Amino acid sequence: MVAGAEAYGTHKNAALAVKGERIAWIGFADEGAREGAALGIPVHDARGLWLTPGLIDCHTHLVYGGHRVEEFEKRLCGASYEDIARAGGGIQSTVQSTREATHQDLRVSAAIRAQRLMSEGVTTIEVKSGYGLELAAERRLLEVARDLGAELPVSIRKTFLGLHALPREFTADRQGFVNQVCGPWLESLVAENLVDAVDAFCENIAFTVTETEQLLRAAKQLGLPAHVHVGQLTDMGGAELAAKWGALSADHLEFVSVAGARALAAAGTVAVLLPTAYFTLQQTTPPPVALLREAGVTLAVATDSNPGTSPCTSLLLALSMACTLFGLTPEEALSGATRNAARALGASQDIGTLEVGKRADFALWRIERPAELCYGLGANPCAGVVYGGKIRAA
Ligand code: NIG
Ligand code: FE
Repeated sequence: MVAGAEAYGTHKNAALAVKGERIAWIGFADEGAREGAALGIPVHDARGLWLTPGLIDCHTHLVYGGHRVEEFEKRLCGASYEDIARAGGGIQSTVQSTREATHQDLRVSAAIRAQRLMSEGVTTIEVKSGYGLELAAERRLLEVARDLGAELPVSIRKTFLGLHALPREFTADRQGFVNQVCGPWLESLVAENLVDAVDAFCENIAFTVTETEQLLRAAKQLGLPAHVHVGQLTDMGGAELAAKWGALSADHLEFVSVAGARALAAAGTVAVLLPTAYFTLQQTTPPPVALLREAGVTLAVATDSNPGTSPCTSLLLALSMACTLFGLTPEEALSGATRNAARALGASQDIGTLEVGKRADFALWRIERPAELCYGLGANPCAGVVYGGKIRAA
């Protein structure tokens, strides 16, 4: 046993055999040769490197046009995220640059961001739309997300974030916009096989509980799972709502009540913590991790990669900040980007742990103990990745 490994239930000298895209056997290297011969398949010996499941970034907004550097500068001079949003900047400015971007711009910039995540052992990325906010523009974002998964050796989960912000053309007709998103837009995108899940930004600068509930109801009727952005800036009862509708995840949660935390636990809704967004917005109230733990809520960690609140393409940095800013243990942080991130995507049967029958997505690390994955700032100890049983350039 390697120092620091006990808590992880891990062991040294692991070996793993792959058949097709799946794990066929996992055990000690010294048994590997015998088992491999018996199964008639090759065995990969980790040769003293650490082996983890491929990392999962279960919350990103990876596809968008432009950037928000000016907004960053304004915030450094004292403007708040809410002030900027209310003045028509924020998400609205990315909607404008995304609508203006060519398909090629969107593809290339998203691929660069995806490759940065992949270089750190990420094998699955959830990608949200939400910067189009008109049907054709939302479709384009979801198509780019789908194509990323076809062009790069990474699994993509596509989320329709229809209720992200109210687009300018609907300023005078909020309900009309919500009706479009929850009705014809959702139905068309689902019919085109572009939607794995839905999402909404339930917040005082975005959508109310009632509006969010309309989307959750529509999704349920179509048999689609849901994620919800809740409690990023205020507690509007979004956690309770996510739990009521059996959402896969409730994301952010800086502001959540005791009742909200208990509801999430009872519903099995995963709390996705986004420490790089908290850091970027220089927030001062972290999610009540002790409360969430005590209530028995499953915790995941993701980058929230987006141009406004989290211009971040490092999941390892998010894990580090989950420890230093939110007080997670390195073990909790790491399971938040593997086992629990898989739960947040409703994909536990397929990914997130190294078990026979699951996808052979795993990362090899040049580290001495697992907490090192949360320790380095800007370090990348990834020494190799196997994706669907095939060696991938990290
Ligand atoms: O998760 N909160 C809503 N959505 C993103 C931010 C989007 C933006 O500011 O462009 C988030 O933080
Ligand atoms: Fe987000």
